[in-house]
Amino acid sequence: MHTDFFAPEPILIPQCFLLYIVIYIQCKKRGPQLKLEEEIKELRGKIEYHNRKYYIENSPEISDYEYDLLFRRLKEFEEKHPHLITPDSPTQKVGGEPLEEFAQVRHSEPMLSLDNVYNLEELKEFDGRVRRGLEGDEKVRYVVELKIDGVSVALTYRGGRFVQGATRGNGVIGDDITANLRTIRSLPLRLLGKWKEGEEIEVRGEVFLPKKGFEKVNKEREESGEPLFANPRNAAAGSLKLLDPRITARRPLDIFLYYLRAPHLKIKSHSDALRRLKEFGFKTEPHYETFDSIDEMIPYLKKWEKKKEQLEYETDGVVIKVDSMTQQDILGATSHHPRYAAAYKYQPEQAETRLIDIKVQVGRTGVLTPVAELEPVFISGTTVSRATLHNEDDIRRKDVRIGDLVIVQKAGEIIPQVLSVVKEKRTGSEKTFSFPKKCPVCDSPTERIEGEAAVRCTGYWCPAQLKERIRHFASRTAMDIENLGPALINQLVDQNIIKDYADLYSLNKTIVSSLERMADKSAENVITAIQRSKSAPLDRLIFALGIRHVGQRASQILANTFRSLDALSDAPQEALVQVHEIGPKVAESIYSFFRQKETKVVLEKLRRAGLNMKM
Ligand code: IVH
Repeated sequence: MHTDFFAPEPILIPQCFLLYIVIYIQCKKRGPQLKLEEEIKELRGKIEYHNRKYYIENSPEISDYEYDLLFRRLKEFEEKHPHLITPDSPTQKVGGEPLEEFAQVRHSEPMLSLDNVYNLEELKEFDGRVRRGLEGDEKVRYVVELKIDGVSVALTYRGGRFVQGATRGNGVIGDDITANLRTIRSLPLRLLGKWKEGEEIEVRGEVFLPKKGFEKVNKEREESGEPLFANPRNAAAGSLKLLDPRITARRPLDIFLYYLRAPHLKIKSHSDALRRLKEFGFKTEPHYETFDSIDEMIPYLKKWEKKKEQLEYETDGVVIKVDSMTQQDILGATSHHPRYAAAYKYQPEQAETRLIDIKVQVGRTGVLTPVAELEPVFISGTTVSRATLHNEDDIRRKDVRIGDLVIVQKAGEIIPQVLSVVKEKRTGSEKTFSFPKKCPVCDSPTERIEGEAAVRCTGYWCPAQLKERIRHFASRTAMDIENLGPALINQLVDQNIIKDYADLYSLNKTIVSSLERMADKSAENVITAIQRSKSAPLDRLIFALGIRHVGQRASQILANTFRSLDALSDAPQEALVQVHEIGPKVAESIYSFFRQKETKVVLEKLRRAGLNMKM
């Protein structure tokens, strides 16, 4: 689809001729430009179409490879002609420049909360209030939809383009998180259909992190020694509050829209709004249904309470809304919640069981985590025999004692937690637990850094930390040493065969095959994998070193910037802070890591073993 341009015939009158030359040159210059603009527009259209198919409709039509080719072509065009980049180009989903702080946005109308009901009786009372509010014996139809456990946001589109997005904040004023919202794959930057210049709509919905994405994000955080998110909602909220949209772009956030405000569209009902939202290209929660009475919706409520585990995202209940907009308007709202809607909240699944013991685990970065050992109990489809107690303060706050009967909860959290103690059932034989002053594994003193909840083991040679460091070093995303599993690592460390991950390179087949459950062939495979890892790219080596706060992405950036391990280890702190995306905390951690004498010894061993240390 190329654009023709007008080139007049030559006329042999001098002034006209001159004018002709000028127009001709301009057209010649503009011709390719127009062609390019057309081509970019067409490419963007194609990419948006396939984005929609993949992220919104869940029915891709082309392979990832074909999609990558289209995307790369657009990126190349835009790199060559940056003046043609528009904020709604699909390439902008990777996140723009970091911000200093979020601007404040006043909502067009307050973002209210929902009135909660916890059982059928309360739901019927809500229905009674609705019917009384409507006076007379009007028919009421309800839309019932799943309540997504995420973060509510308000988005403005002007002329069909996404122009602003904000958090709920205090309900009246929220943070302008437009740049972060742009990165959400399923959020359309341009709407489908025809939109007049300046035509404005506001939509609201819930940003969430699907369960799988939550696990992925936490796994990455664990690998880079960062604190884990407690549940998908916290992870979504944390991701939207980042000042660097490029980090948000790497969190697989998603969004469902459930509210449309556009008086000129004359929307008659909530179900109509949901239909229109879909037509505009938004994703809506797919399981909503309409009912004419509370009794009719009971099977729906029961079904989803049971089936919620099977969903790809967390839901903490259902939302019941009066469908008719006229009736919604009549019912109005309190200062806290609309009177036409209610949230029917599921009870988080809990169970009572006995706490048999408290064990303290030591992680790669030395953090001591108390874990409750429980009498096994069945909660939300799984048997739970351990639950986290988070940290020292948590145990003290809840006054948890060994032998207590405790309430364990699985609500959104992947790891179950001890919620509270059933103090009335204490017999007096329960024992208080004091947090160890020394590491339970290596006996080194522990320390608690001011302002942090975590207690750490100070022993660099702590076998628990060492095992975790080696496990991380060999992991798939680091040096990718196949077959070096935990059982083998435990033996190597416990028998003092290796003292750090660099010692892996001095192992040979005879040593490894002398270990328990190590056949000759397996020993050979391990040694081959260790040897092969010597040529791993620099960014993987940096990641494998296990520097606190340095994840995969930061490792790539550091490798690209410094291009050798020597340059990175010599870099002054000021040079590290200068690197794009490396904050002061990370720079500090890198700088002190390379100044530790233990690091110097390990690096020297790695160098002698012949590892690749350059780009
Ligand atoms: S309607 C005026 N619909 O639940 C009320 N909210 O507990 C507008 N939520 O702040 C909310 N799924 O963040 C509505 N289908 C849904 C929802 C939903 C999740 C959230 C929303 C709201 C919170 C209230």
